[in-house]
Amino acid sequence: MNGLPKKRVAVLISGRGSNMKTLAEAAGGARSSYEIVGVIADVADAAGLNHAAALDIEARALPRKDYSDKATHEAAIDAQLKSWNVEIVALAGYMRLLSPEFVGKWTGRMINIHPSLLPLFKGLDTHKRALDAGMRVHGCTVHFVTAEMDDGPIVAQAAVPVLPDDNEESLTRRVLAAEHQLYPLALDLVATGRAQLVGNRVAYDNLGTSGGRGIVLSPAVGGDEPDLESLARFTP
Ligand code: GAR
Repeated sequence: MNGLPKKRVAVLISGRGSNMKTLAEAAGGARSSYEIVGVIADVADAAGLNHAAALDIEARALPRKDYSDKATHEAAIDAQLKSWNVEIVALAGYMRLLSPEFVGKWTGRMINIHPSLLPLFKGLDTHKRALDAGMRVHGCTVHFVTAEMDDGPIVAQAAVPVLPDDNEESLTRRVLAAEHQLYPLALDLVATGRAQLVGNRVAYDNLGTSGGRGIVLSPAVGGDEPDLESLARFTP
């Protein structure tokens, strides 16, 4: 931490919440640049709500079916975010497209993680589609959110190898491990202002040697587990 107050972050989820848990655990470190002040799920029984409660984080279910339309649902989410004085919104497995109006309120302050090297494989079943396409490299992306699904200026990416005997399960596991390393690093870049949305691009400042470069590329094709700490220091 650089002496500045921690940024107040809310995480939006729809299910398991493993990325949310990783962000919350990283936020517990003394030097973290952010704190997780609340978690919102759009599904009443999202498992991640229990993880959040176990971590003493305020967790709210705001199920879409409790609202007459998308606008009132999003108004409820926005009101909850405001009541927590949220500064940054992190989508982590939030599987509902947000309206341009909502996205517009959070421009440059809302990020998402997606399990592919965007702009490849937007949408669902990314690991199966990467295998079907014969990709030798796959990965995950953290990006600023725009009104398009899984689209927007890229903050950081982690690449993992696709091994010859991979199946959907093994590749999912490897990418998820990369997600859990990448998302705290990427959120830190945004929370400290070292990655900022400027127009349609991400501008970087003062990345240093340990905070990770904006684009994290794997030089280690062939390894089973990505070692993102060393990759973050990797300077092409
Ligand atoms: C993660 O793999 C995340 O990248 C993906 O959903 C999963 C949620 O897992 N998100 C998307 O596909 C967004 N388009 P989690 O609930 O355990 O974090």
